Amino acid sequence: MKQINIGLLGIGNVGGGTYQILNNNHDVISERTDADIRVTKALTHNLNKKRKFEIPSDILTTNADEILNDSNINIIVEALGGIEPASTYMLKAMQSGKHVVTANKAAVAANYEKLMTVANENNVMLLTEACVAGAIPALASIQTSLQGNRFYEVSGILNGTTNYIMSKMYNEGLAYADVLKDAQAKGFAEADPTDDVMGYDIANKLSILVALTFNQYIHPKDIPTVGITNITKEDIDIAKTNGTKIKLIGSAILSETGKLSCSVKPVNINCTHPLFSVDNEFNAVYLKGDAFGELMYYGKGAGPLPTGSAVVGDIISIINNIWR
Ligand code: HSE
Repeated sequence: MKQINIGLLGIGNVGGGTYQILNNNHDVISERTDADIRVTKALTHNLNKKRKFEIPSDILTTNADEILNDSNINIIVEALGGIEPASTYMLKAMQSGKHVVTANKAAVAANYEKLMTVANENNVMLLTEACVAGAIPALASIQTSLQGNRFYEVSGILNGTTNYIMSKMYNEGLAYADVLKDAQAKGFAEADPTDDVMGYDIANKLSILVALTFNQYIHPKDIPTVGITNITKEDIDIAKTNGTKIKLIGSAILSETGKLSCSVKPVNINCTHPLFSVDNEFNAVYLKGDAFGELMYYGKGAGPLPTGSAVVGDIISIINNIWR
């Protein structure tokens, strides 16, 4: 059985979830890949950090170059968050022939064209499933099973933190700040939750979805974006009275004249809409296409294990594509 070595750039929420899945499910993953997958190095900024899982101290490093320059590492998992230095690290890894799996939607959305070009030029795979809607395999299915369609719409609930906040405020009457703290403790929120609550995280994810469905790159800064920070308890009470829910929705809709309109904004969702019952950290990706009609994916969009699930799926896809 071949050995595939993984270098983890980041061993926080997503990197940690990935590490745990690779260890806990080592047997089934080996059967599915005919490979012994080992995390041989992991980047951390704190060697002494207390973690919820065991990790041998000799694989930890504070020096990214030790991972990027290690010729024994086959696949880099980038789970640092933030545009830089993550983008530079991914480019460097691909330029030295390593395949890359990333959960970093901010870096991918900001540098989509450059990253994809460098992946092609170096004949390596760059997989990004974990960037959008956590465990939901939306990107893979858009690029495989749904490829026979013209897409008309991609939209949905694409941020676990804000959906968690809105759900807890609506269902349990909890205060915004308390729920945000809870979402941070559960590992849903970004290091800086401004990106979540202002809707920027959704704009990043929508930019990636649009690139894949409409073959058009739109920089997230060019997507009109409104977050949830101005939503009051009164707004929620009014929605309740009307039998609606306020959800932060990212959407891209193609008009009959071929104009693509993208936005991120709070929307009052009617109880008959499939997105109405998508609560807590759950996400949903809603698509319209000329052949399949309507389709909605539902699942956990944030958290170490759901996001790690998408990362590990991408690692397995690379191994089965390249080494089998
Ligand atoms: N902060 C993000 C969210 C993490 O809450 O959805 C997953 O992308």
